[in-house]
Amino acid sequence: EEKGFIFDLDGVIVDTAKFHFLAWKKAAAEFNFELTHQQNEQLKGVSRVDSLKKILNWANAEVSQEKFDELAANKNADYLTYVDKMTAADILPGIKEILAEIKKEGYPIALGSASKNAPKILQKVGIMDLFDVIVDGNSVTKAKPNPEVFLIAAEKINVAPNNCIVFEDAEAGIEAANTAGMISIGLGNEQNLKEADYNFSSFTEITFNFLKTLQPK
Ligand code: BG6
Ligand code: MG
Repeated sequence: EEKGFIFDLDGVIVDTAKFHFLAWKKAAAEFNFELTHQQNEQLKGVSRVDSLKKILNWANAEVSQEKFDELAANKNADYLTYVDKMTAADILPGIKEILAEIKKEGYPIALGSASKNAPKILQKVGIMDLFDVIVDGNSVTKAKPNPEVFLIAAEKINVAPNNCIVFEDAEAGIEAANTAGMISIGLGNEQNLKEADYNFSSFTEITFNFLKTLQPK
């Protein structure tokens, strides 16, 4: 049985989670809401529209559909000003090495991201060609924690879900991977990722040998 590897993008491959936070903070300030760090944790992995719905809920604010669309568009425009400045230096430590090793051993690599900006970011940091398959916010209808994004990725790389290894930094993403029946690896804040099968603080702590020994769920 062959393994397949599925990577989330924001907060796993690149350190864009901080840019999303800054942009959402600014958007929330428009309706006088101060978004906290802990609330932001719950936005990780969540689609743009669902994120804004959550924030409006926390703020007890209601807006027209027109205003909603405007807030989302402005948030994205603001986010993209950070993305435009990204370079290969924004790739998180250890990622390139692990991607290269997986590739060298001939295993398929997929991206499983909620972001509609995923292709742009991969191009900016110059690692687009390492991915066999890209599934992103443009190709899914159900946002994480729904497992759709990962199940489509597994199908496209032709690997059974229980042989797929998913790397995630978000609660919603770990939940999606677990629901898909995949092996879930949490990166970063272990407190928020208790449901993950394995936890690491960074890719520099993950060896390819460890990944090779993982057994199907
Ligand atoms: C996820 C991020 O990867 O993508 C979320 O963790 C973000 O913070 C979501 O809201 C959607 O991204 P975008 O770029 O389409 O707004
Ligand atoms: Mg993420």
